[in-house]
Amino acid sequence: MSVTIKSQHEIELMREAGRVLAIVHNEMAKIIRPGVSTMDINRKGEEVIKRYGCTPSFLDYEGYPASICVSVNHEVIHGIPEKRRILQDGDIVSLDAGVCYKGYHSDSARTHGVGEISKEDQKLIDITKQSFFEGVKFAKAGNHLFEISKAIQDFVEDNGFSVVRDFVGHGIGREVHEEPQIPNFKPMGRGMKLRPGMVLAIEPMVNAGKCEVWLLEDDWTVVTRDSSRSAHYENTVLITEGEPELLSYREDLI
Ligand code: CO
Repeated sequence: MSVTIKSQHEIELMREAGRVLAIVHNEMAKIIRPGVSTMDINRKGEEVIKRYGCTPSFLDYEGYPASICVSVNHEVIHGIPEKRRILQDGDIVSLDAGVCYKGYHSDSARTHGVGEISKEDQKLIDITKQSFFEGVKFAKAGNHLFEISKAIQDFVEDNGFSVVRDFVGHGIGREVHEEPQIPNFKPMGRGMKLRPGMVLAIEPMVNAGKCEVWLLEDDWTVVTRDSSRSAHYENTVLITEGEPELLSYREDLI
């Protein structure tokens, strides 16, 4: 399927999916502390999604067995929640969640410190978040897609970290993953021209060490090859005639 341009009605449904998703992340963030299991976080996220009359986009998606992806330390993405995986002081944890409202999805990710974390880990989390905002400055009608990619890559690498190449951002709407793919590094060419009504999930995945990753035996969890720590930040972004609208983000929430 090619890139979809959303109608006003579709945009309203995606706004609601994004609004709920921002609340879901905020509620999950509140329970993060040493001693909590990654399954506790999944349970909380799922509970809040259902409380708002929505469904978790990721549950059963291509066989994924949970509602929230919970990835700890050197896990990059798609960590599977487990009752016995207990968060420890000094860990960092990436939460990736998707909400479906009346058939339309929103997708966003946040990385949090658990208890007291090192200065270097805090920098990794902050640079990853900021790299999203550097990229989103270019998410405007008339610009080209890879201007976003380049801004993210340049900012991350100027700060001494690396961007993951093997996984990318994506269009989103009726499907969680739509065209186009949105790399966090600059490929050849300029990429497609952005148009009002496109909705993009922009999601830098940033490693403290090298960019290479591999897949664990569970066939889901992606980890850094060099075991360095990794952070993830993502929002669902609507392209408009003017400034982009961040559908899954609220300044007063996490
Ligand atoms: Co995504």
